[in-house]
Amino acid sequence: MRKPIIAPSVLSANFARLEEEIEMLNRSAADWIHLDIMDGVFVPNISFGLPVTQAISRVARKPLDVHLMIVQPEKYLEAFYKAGAAVLTVHAEACVHLHRTTQQIRMLGIRPGVAINPHTPVRTLENVIAEIDVVCLMSVNPGFGGQQFIENTYRKITELKSLIIESESRALIEVDGGVGPENARRLVEAGADILVAGNAVFGAPNPEAAISRLRES
Ligand code: DX5
Ligand code: ZN
Repeated sequence: MRKPIIAPSVLSANFARLEEEIEMLNRSAADWIHLDIMDGVFVPNISFGLPVTQAISRVARKPLDVHLMIVQPEKYLEAFYKAGAAVLTVHAEACVHLHRTTQQIRMLGIRPGVAINPHTPVRTLENVIAEIDVVCLMSVNPGFGGQQFIENTYRKITELKSLIIESESRALIEVDGGVGPENARRLVEAGADILVAGNAVFGAPNPEAAISRLRES
């Protein structure tokens, strides 16, 4: 079977040893490095921002997949581009002018992504799907690592896959939240291209082995 792109989420890493954690990801079979930016307004948690992203970017040898869980993300696109983002994902729910915002990301020369919360219908993306490179389906309510996977996500993957095909879009399907060895295979079979995993990687006794295992799902 087609191998998924694995994007471990640094949110679950040991922040006091961030350089070692990133070196581990460099050595591992991870394809991308997922960074969760939370502002305490769009989501009920605050994670880290630009200086930490920049510091990670100096050590990371894999593309940074930056997930902005912030209000008015359009204000910070250039700053995250300069901090090293290769994929920059904004939430549909946080953007009044989603189409313009994805265009602005593209104009920076990086890959635009759009994330949708569990309650947001896939059809919200109808008019931007042809313009974006990644759709991030939230399979938990954003804000925290280690939450339980929402089963309705399988249905959303199927629906999104049809929308992508109909629209001749090249968007990849990313699933974020509650992903681990117990559901990875079924997600890939359903059509997921990118698996984000925080707790399943950094909470494992051997994170490198956990990443390889997810990749073989
Ligand atoms: C949730 C974040 C996720 C989170 C995933 O708001 O967007 O990327 O780090 O963590 P796990 O894999 O532990 O659910
Ligand atoms: Zn995320």
